[in-house]
Amino acid sequence: RAAGDPAILELPDWTTTLGEGVDANPYGMPSEYEAHVVRRNVPWLTADPVSSVNFTPLHELDGIITPNGLCFERHHGGVAQVDPAQWRLMIHGLVETPLVFTLEDLKRFPRVNKVYFLECAANSGMEWRGAQLNGVQFTHGMIHNVMYTGVPLRTILEECGLKPAGKWMLAEGADAAAMTRSIPIEKALDDCMVAFKMNGEALRPEQGYPARLVVPGWEGNMWVKWLRRLEIGDKPWHHREETSKYTDLLPDGTARRFTWEMDAKSVITSPSPQAPITHGKGRTVITGIAWSGRGTIRRVDVSLDGGRNWLPARLDGPSFDKSIHRFYHEFDWDGRPLYLQSRAIDSTGYVQPTKDALRSVRGVNSIYHNNGIQTWYVNENGEAENVEVS
Ligand code: MTE
Ligand code: CO
Repeated sequence: RAAGDPAILELPDWTTTLGEGVDANPYGMPSEYEAHVVRRNVPWLTADPVSSVNFTPLHELDGIITPNGLCFERHHGGVAQVDPAQWRLMIHGLVETPLVFTLEDLKRFPRVNKVYFLECAANSGMEWRGAQLNGVQFTHGMIHNVMYTGVPLRTILEECGLKPAGKWMLAEGADAAAMTRSIPIEKALDDCMVAFKMNGEALRPEQGYPARLVVPGWEGNMWVKWLRRLEIGDKPWHHREETSKYTDLLPDGTARRFTWEMDAKSVITSPSPQAPITHGKGRTVITGIAWSGRGTIRRVDVSLDGGRNWLPARLDGPSFDKSIHRFYHEFDWDGRPLYLQSRAIDSTGYVQPTKDALRSVRGVNSIYHNNGIQTWYVNENGEAENVEVS
C-alpha cells in the first residue's frame, strides 16, 4: 500500500503550517471530521420537539462511557434552565424533620462516584411488532452510561429522619412537566443518589442540571431531572407516568405495572445499518454493549447465523454493577452474508430472550421493556439492515 501513497509523499497543511494555540476552544470540541457524530431524533415519532426524544449514536462509540454531549435526551416539557442559586430540594411528608437543601448544603455531605446506565423503558419500543428503524442509534439509543458524583439518598433521608410508616417516596422535577414518580423506600435507601456531576463535570442542562435523581438499574423515567421535591408517604401516588404510561397492556386486557427493573439486554453496535463493513472480507471486528438492571454481565454470546450457532464474545473494560459492558468478537469474514445477533447473560443467570419469546408472553401491544435479541443482516457488500429471523 505504501508505494506512491500521496498521504505519505505529499506534505499536508497540518504539517507545513502552525496550528491554533491553546485556548482556541476553552471548553474543547471534537475534531471537525467527527461532525456527523451527534444525537439524532426521528421527526415523525413525536408531535413536537419539546415533548420528545433523541438518540445516542451508539454505532460511533466504544468503551463503556457515554460522552456528555452525546447522552440521549428525553424531555416531557423541554429543558428547564435552572439557576443553581435558586435551586432547592424539599423533603417532607412522613419524616421527623422536613428540610430544604440548597446546592451548597447538598455538597457538604459525603459523596460517592458510581457508573450506571440509564435506559428509557421505551428503548426499542418501536420494534415490538417487527423490525422498523434502520440504525442501532434509533433501535437502541435511548441509553447512556455515565459516572455520577453525588450524595446517597439514604444520607439525605436519614438527615430528615424517616417515620416507620414511610414506605414510598415521591420524586418531583422542577421542569414544566413536573415529572413525578413513586419509588419504594427500600430502593431509595439502597442505592439511589442525588447526583450533581456527570463524568466529572456539572450535569448538562439536558440531563437535569443542577441535580437529578439516580435510580440504578431501574427504568429511566424514574430518574427525575431538575429534582426539586421528595415526599415520603405510606403508599404509591399512581401518577400519570405509572398508570397511563410506563405500563404494558397484556393480551388478556390487564396491564403489567411497576415494572421498574431493566432486564438484561445487549446489541451489536458495529457492524450495524449506520456502520457497515467497508473493508471487504478478512479480518473483522464485531463490537457491542450489554447491560442488566440486576447486576453485572457474566457472558455475551454472538451468532453470525441468526441464532443457530453461538460463540462466547470477549468482554473488555470495567465490569460495574448496573453499568454497560463492552464486548468484541474478532473473526475472518469470508464475505458471505451474516445474520448477526448478540445475547446477554447477567450475574443472576438470566438469559436475554428472543423477540418471539417476549411476544409469546406479552403480546404485541407493548411499548416498554423490549429487551429482545436484535438481528442485523449483513450482505456481501458489508451493508447492514434491521431484520427479524424466526
Ligand atoms: N425528569 C423530568 N423532570 N422531566 C422529564 O421529562 N424524563 C424522564 C427522566 N426524567 C424526564 C425526567 C425519562 S422518560 C427518561 S428516559 C430520562 O429522564 C431521560 O434522561 P436523559 O434525558 O438524561 O437521557
Ligand atoms: Co424515558
